[in-house]
Amino acid sequence: MDNRFSKLKEYYESKGKDLNMRELFSKDSSRFNKFSVDVKISEKVGNILLDYSKNRIDETALALLVELAEQSGVAEMRDRMFKGDKINITEQRAVLHTALRNRDPSAKIVVDGEDVMVGVRQVLAKMRSFVGRVRSGEWRGYSGKAITDVVNIGIGGSDLGPVMVTNALKSYADDTKLRAHFVSNIDGTHLVETVKHLNPETTLFIVASKTFTTQETITNATSARAWLLERVSDASLHTKAVAQHFVALSTNGEAVSKFGILVDNMFEFWDWVGGRYSLWSAIGLSIALYVGMDVFESLLEGAYEMDRHFTSAPLAHNLPVLLALIGVWYNNFFNAQSVAILPYDQYLSRFAAYFQQGDMESNGKGVTRDGTPVSSQTGPVIWGEPGTNGQHAFYQLIHQGTKIIPCDFIAPIESQNNIGQHHRILLSNFFAQTEALMKGKSESEARAELVKEGLSGDRLENLLPHKVFSGNRPTNSIMIQKLTPHSLGALIALYEHKIFVQGVIWNINSFDQWGVELGKQLAKSILPELYTKEDITSHDSSTNGLINYYKKNSKL
Ligand code: F6P
Repeated sequence: MDNRFSKLKEYYESKGKDLNMRELFSKDSSRFNKFSVDVKISEKVGNILLDYSKNRIDETALALLVELAEQSGVAEMRDRMFKGDKINITEQRAVLHTALRNRDPSAKIVVDGEDVMVGVRQVLAKMRSFVGRVRSGEWRGYSGKAITDVVNIGIGGSDLGPVMVTNALKSYADDTKLRAHFVSNIDGTHLVETVKHLNPETTLFIVASKTFTTQETITNATSARAWLLERVSDASLHTKAVAQHFVALSTNGEAVSKFGILVDNMFEFWDWVGGRYSLWSAIGLSIALYVGMDVFESLLEGAYEMDRHFTSAPLAHNLPVLLALIGVWYNNFFNAQSVAILPYDQYLSRFAAYFQQGDMESNGKGVTRDGTPVSSQTGPVIWGEPGTNGQHAFYQLIHQGTKIIPCDFIAPIESQNNIGQHHRILLSNFFAQTEALMKGKSESEARAELVKEGLSGDRLENLLPHKVFSGNRPTNSIMIQKLTPHSLGALIALYEHKIFVQGVIWNINSFDQWGVELGKQLAKSILPELYTKEDITSHDSSTNGLINYYKKNSKL
């Protein structure tokens, strides 16, 4: 770790590592007030409360962490990102997903001499018109029927955002009129199972690919086109069928037309939109079709309001900055390897999966911005499932395992589905889990409980160690008023900016993803080998062995 981390390192060694939350809470009755921020993001987003008091931090640790952010130039890099500087240095690109949701009608953001806001507004207008036509039934399939099902074909950033958001905003959609489906995996099962019950006359395929060269997407799109055309018996209707049933979301107009999709049916975005930050762009078309353009724009507004908070709030009261700094504390000093994101809202069931790409593809890096090996740990493993399902699956390890797992608990104050006692029960679990993780259960408490249950002697002594919880396990609690398009937009932007801040502190480029290339390259060279008769010898013995085993046993 470089000099910027020295004071924190010293503090961690002398005091930080022994901070005990139970003691901190018992000594300071105002700890919640001191270590939480309740920010009114906007009228429509409402408030977002971040309670970070159940962490192994005190005022000194927090002050030193904020100092680290200052010394690392977080504010300067943030401002450079928002104004369109080419901070993605390895790809020589600006990083402007924030421009896609900039709702200021007079905003001007210039990249290479061009105001990108002009194109952003044009594409949004084109999306609005298309979404209106499809949803009203004006857009017809080749046989004259209105669209009932939309299938987004894309992968990674061209899939995960729309999957997560359409799931989160399900209550804003009308599934009886228009349904959204997603095909991403190259495994033919994904496409086959998705289209199995769809009517080709009323199905619209959206081919979503920034590069329009991604093997999985182009293969799936080609098979989807074959599926459609096999069902259009009159060959003279084939061109019309492709035109009416295929649209593309891409930066690569040439490849889109080569595929046979009309340029008119292409929704453009730009190289300054990173794949994993692209749901705000034309990549969000499946979201807009599913919930309507107004709802999609509310999502953008919510994210924009978080952008405004991020760019204006002092670092010590800045939600993404605080989340990032707490993460750095555990990642770089306590050697925490992962972070669990645990939403207590079923609509957010894909939130953690979405941020697996968002965080791990961004910050899973081993060299600094200037290409030298990093001297500190970088991005953590991100995982999680919605509460209370996670409680009955993996929380045991978080409570009593040997690993430190910082967790983000996220919950809405209001549910969208108020039936019986469900929401209060859900929230009682949300509150209880962070309390249990913080407090744990001491040996004397466990003993008293066992005695009360009537246990004594060997039975009690043998059981006792299993009933003790060490506690002091860190959590953040994030509460929003209700999951709406606005608050969802803000929540996504909150995590995007957290990732950004951490990337700046670790001095890495959060906006490239060279690490996914090697496997892709090798797969391309292996594919032709799967078609030949003879044994393969060009790889290591394991890879040769596996390929030859497949070839020997394949019935194809
Ligand atoms: O997995 C690597 C990646 O490049 C992601 O960053 C991206 O989201 C995904 O592939 C899909 O790329 P495209 O949108 O170009 O098909």
